[in-house]
Amino acid sequence: MAPDKVTVPEIKRMKEKGERITSLTAYDYSFARILDAAGIDILLVGDSLGSVIQGQESTLPVTLDDVIYHTRAVVRGRKRALVVADMPFLSFQISVEEAKRNAGRLLQEGGAEAVKLEGGVEMLETVEAIVEIGIPVMGHVGLTPQSLHRFGGYKVQGKDRDQREKIIQDALAVEEGGAFSIVLEGIPMDLAQEITRRLSIPTIGIGAGPHCDGQVLVVHDMLGLFDMYAPKFVKQYADLKGVMAEAVKNFITEVKEGRFPDEEHSFH
Ligand code: KIV
Repeated sequence: MAPDKVTVPEIKRMKEKGERITSLTAYDYSFARILDAAGIDILLVGDSLGSVIQGQESTLPVTLDDVIYHTRAVVRGRKRALVVADMPFLSFQISVEEAKRNAGRLLQEGGAEAVKLEGGVEMLETVEAIVEIGIPVMGHVGLTPQSLHRFGGYKVQGKDRDQREKIIQDALAVEEGGAFSIVLEGIPMDLAQEITRRLSIPTIGIGAGPHCDGQVLVVHDMLGLFDMYAPKFVKQYADLKGVMAEAVKNFITEVKEGRFPDEEHSFH
């Protein structure tokens, strides 16, 4: 396991050492404490909070203030993991100046140590400008959820030759801009393998197969807490929804039947 505190240079070194990188999303203090203590390398305060926390249909309604709020809670709960905060829709696309200010707010007000933003070639200048002011950037290419309507839905990207070449150029641009790592989402595994081989920065896959330098999942998906839809790439490592439902049913029954609270849980 990497040292006491995971840093941006350490994430880059992990690729050089051939050590795989683990990442999960986190949105609050309690989850962050559990994931951090279990040894996760990167806690990503993803704009997926729009779906799993806010119940929105996409990530588009998530605001910068939402991400700052959740990042603060996550930072309070972690000791070791690197905290990366997502730049939500419209927080970095309008102008390079706005992108720099908003990335800065995620560090200054949220306490994040790095930011993530979606996009490739068209974001090269933005990535460069943010990195230049000392803010580490994680890129994100392939099936980028903020471009959902351009794609016509959450569809695997990079299936034909043109798309494939575009995603390779996007990944190369993100690296050229100075990003320290890049998320590859929803692309064929051989494409992810090729990008991982061509880039010197670590690739973190989600729905991109086994050949990336690391893997990320939405924590609610892998713990079985969110069952609105189940993408093929999600492996469910627990059924916490079932565990919670059972616990809540037991509570209801015991209260209704007058069995809770009992002597043990009462004061004299
Ligand atoms: O918002 C998010 O959670 C993400 C990851 C799943 C990569 O972008």
